[in-house]
Amino acid sequence: MARKKIVAGNWKMNKTPSEAVALVNELKPLVASEDVDVLFCVPAIDLVPVLEAVKGSNIQVGAENMYFEESGAYTGEISPNMLTDIGVKYVIIGHSERREYFAETDETVNKKVLKAFEHGITPIICCGESLTQREQGITIDWIRQQIKIAFQNVTADQAKTAIIAYEPIWAIGTGKTATSDQAEEVCAAIRECIGEIYDDATKEEIRIQYGGSVNAGNAAELFAKPNIDGGLVGGASLKADFGKIVNYK
Ligand code: PGA
Repeated sequence: MARKKIVAGNWKMNKTPSEAVALVNELKPLVASEDVDVLFCVPAIDLVPVLEAVKGSNIQVGAENMYFEESGAYTGEISPNMLTDIGVKYVIIGHSERREYFAETDETVNKKVLKAFEHGITPIICCGESLTQREQGITIDWIRQQIKIAFQNVTADQAKTAIIAYEPIWAIGTGKTATSDQAEEVCAAIRECIGEIYDDATKEEIRIQYGGSVNAGNAAELFAKPNIDGGLVGGASLKADFGKIVNYK
């Protein structure tokens, strides 16, 4: 079974609600595609207006984070049922910026992944090594550990629908993209790891994105790799270039 590519924008902390609607309207005609799943992951406050603005288009909408409890005294957090209530079907979990600035750990990532599945939300599970770890030669060991903890108690049927984003931290927002061979090597290792945890069917079905300075110039080479099923795109998702990334062929 050929895996369908998925190209997701990660807007991070950019765009007010009115700017968000304007950006969706600008990008809508540029990201039309039947071959690729297109997803905009946007700040929580933009979700409702963006869901409205994408109606009738091929664009799907995701959140950038959520909490692992249903409700309660967690000031400032967003619960899974708040997301499903407005029709959100995807959520980014464990982005390296959340790990670095908001103390997320592999354990909280796992709790959020389980909670997302419980609510029928597809998690985009982020992993990635620092430059020091790459230089120490522990990239694959590190990523395998992140994956194994993130998928604790996740069933094979759930894992099949998950999306993993491999994002080397040194490549995020730096303009320093991993080479397509570097990205492919780690994405292939992630797929092997999923095969070890589950089975061949899960290994073949799960989609693995590359993220880290993806742009209109490097998307085609990255996405042509056998184990790279699309991208998680930060900076370039906020401009017309995103259309070129979606239509990379
Ligand atoms: P970037 O961000 O494309 O700006 O490097 C990617 C990400 O953090 O998801």
